Amino acid sequence: MSDPQSIRAAQLREELNYHIYRYNVLGSPVITDGEYDQLYHELRQLEEMHPELITPDSPTQRAGSDLTEDFPKVRHAAPILSLPNAFSVEDLQDWETRNLKLLPAGTQLDYTLEPKLDGLTIVITYENGVLKQAATRGNGDLGDDVTANVRTIRSIPLKIPTRPDGPLAPPLLVVRGEVLFLKKDFEAVNKRQAEQELPLYINARNTASGTLKQKDSRITASRPLSCFVYAVVASGGIKWDTQWETLEYLRDMGFPVAPDAGYFPTLSHIIQQLPTWESRRHRLDFEIDGVVIKINDLRVQDELGFVGKDPRGSTAYKFPAEEMTTKLTGVTVNIGRTGKVTPTAQLEPVFLGGVTVVNASLHNYDQIEKLDIRLGDTVIVKRSGEVIPYVIGPVIGARDGSETPIQPPSHCPFCNTAIVQPEGLVDYYCPNITCPERVYRSLEFFVSKGAMDIEGMGGQTVKMLIDKGLIHDEADIFTLQAEPLLELDGFGEKKVDNLLASIAAAKQRPLDQLIASLGIDGVGSVVAGTLADRFRSVEALQTASVEAIDEIEGIGEVLAQSVVEWFAAPHHQQLIEKFRAAGVNLQAAEKVKAGDSLAGKTFVLTGTLPTLSREQAAALIESHGGKVSGSVSKKTSYVLMGDSPGSKAEKAQALGVTIISEADLLAMVGKQ
Ligand code: IVH
Repeated sequence: MSDPQSIRAAQLREELNYHIYRYNVLGSPVITDGEYDQLYHELRQLEEMHPELITPDSPTQRAGSDLTEDFPKVRHAAPILSLPNAFSVEDLQDWETRNLKLLPAGTQLDYTLEPKLDGLTIVITYENGVLKQAATRGNGDLGDDVTANVRTIRSIPLKIPTRPDGPLAPPLLVVRGEVLFLKKDFEAVNKRQAEQELPLYINARNTASGTLKQKDSRITASRPLSCFVYAVVASGGIKWDTQWETLEYLRDMGFPVAPDAGYFPTLSHIIQQLPTWESRRHRLDFEIDGVVIKINDLRVQDELGFVGKDPRGSTAYKFPAEEMTTKLTGVTVNIGRTGKVTPTAQLEPVFLGGVTVVNASLHNYDQIEKLDIRLGDTVIVKRSGEVIPYVIGPVIGARDGSETPIQPPSHCPFCNTAIVQPEGLVDYYCPNITCPERVYRSLEFFVSKGAMDIEGMGGQTVKMLIDKGLIHDEADIFTLQAEPLLELDGFGEKKVDNLLASIAAAKQRPLDQLIASLGIDGVGSVVAGTLADRFRSVEALQTASVEAIDEIEGIGEVLAQSVVEWFAAPHHQQLIEKFRAAGVNLQAAEKVKAGDSLAGKTFVLTGTLPTLSREQAAALIESHGGKVSGSVSKKTSYVLMGDSPGSKAEKAQALGVTIISEADLLAMVGKQ
């Protein structure tokens, strides 16, 4: 046969088998799991439509195996199955339709929805409540005995039930779960690697796998693995009717069960949940690569049986791939408003998370060196939610020797000033405060929504005004006149009127907003608010010493230094003078005093309040003579607590500080 489909199937078989070899034998994959899944799915679909294309060497015909030579083998109590994949709502609907055809007419299916944890399967055997054995999935029938390593994972109970009120342990209980790194733990592992100047790990899942399969369990113990349990493989006589009850039983027994699992009466309910999951994913403590949908009725699951290594009654819904491999073709140098040099990767176009990505962040040169990223490398690029795409790291196995190291630039590409690396910092800087790129970036930031919020003036307008010589710094904006503006392309009378009106309005922005807009390194809106509050005018802030600023709670010495240095630069002093001359507000508004019922009291805020924002609550306290502080001590009078409070609430309790609610506060100031 040499029709296009059989040619494509042969191509896919060859490619997939090569990637299986790279992954399992060489331990050096050259594509991401997501890319592998896509190829596999394509072959699967081809074979489903044309079963005659299935050959014995097709990767779909074997259960994958991760057996190694390092461990004794153990036979699983029941086959450890895998999951079929769905990539779209349509795939899910087809899955249900196929199942309904196999079941008695009129069957109603309900489901559970669980996160698809991105780790590796572990099968743990308890005899009379005591952990006896733990094995990897292996080839589904035989697994590697990694009991000693699993015993080092703290979330896995060595004895069940772990809760005094838990159900009595049966004589035999074999559970299945997933071993992984919590995101914070993986970051900590890499931080330690960096401290010891060792190479960084790129992929949490592969690192978890490598950690679990260490021959020396002391190495496993030194890295904080976690585990979540989601199924019972075998049990001494106990049977559960549903998956939902199984999860409840496991939780009651004291096993770690992933939070956020849900029960839903129909597939439509499940489908409605999917968009929320894609955004929730980024807030979870662990990596997931999709969700798992299981028919809730376990008898129905049994009845449906399996195809190859995939059960019919459960399926994975995979999120669109967030990681892809592509070629790093170049590195461009960007200069920010503070002069910071950031390298940006130029990539061969790659379709990722619904968009074509052609460039991505490389963080900084220190990171490039630590990850050993070279020009010409095949790299893994990640685009996750709203985050700017970034290069995770190189695929070392794909190198051909033509790759070249990446060096930081010696001179600024915009003003040719020598680039510097301040002592103790990882970043490089263009130190020239009149660098045209720095000026442009500062102005672009100054007018933006998060800063002075000058409506009708975006980056493009700023660029045009600089190019025409109409503005040279932030202050020039406030003396712009109508005539030269009217001559610009696309600027009619109405547009110019509107722009001048929003510039006039911006002259009256509160002091903290002005300070936050200046682009002082490290000074965002919170620090700007604190500075405005303490010094109450630009004049006072300009003459403040490092010590005076450093004394303020929440501001460290580095930040204080950066503020003082900024105001000391003659260029910035001139700028302030020009602001003054143009009539820009440089004073804090008088504090309105509403009463002094809270005089002498110190408050600490934690959590989300029902109606007031943090700023509003702080303003209310201060306007009644009270003080707001950032941390709880014995001197704190009250901790004002809202929803999801942080550790401050615990500290308050430990110190015996009174905890109050928003309603209590309102009552104290006579508002309720
Ligand atoms: S159930 C027949 N539930 O995903 C039961 N698996 O791609 C099949 N996985 O090998 C497994 N989270 O390692 C199940 N909540 C979850 C899961 C889950 C992650 C893994 C598991 C499986 C792989 C299949």
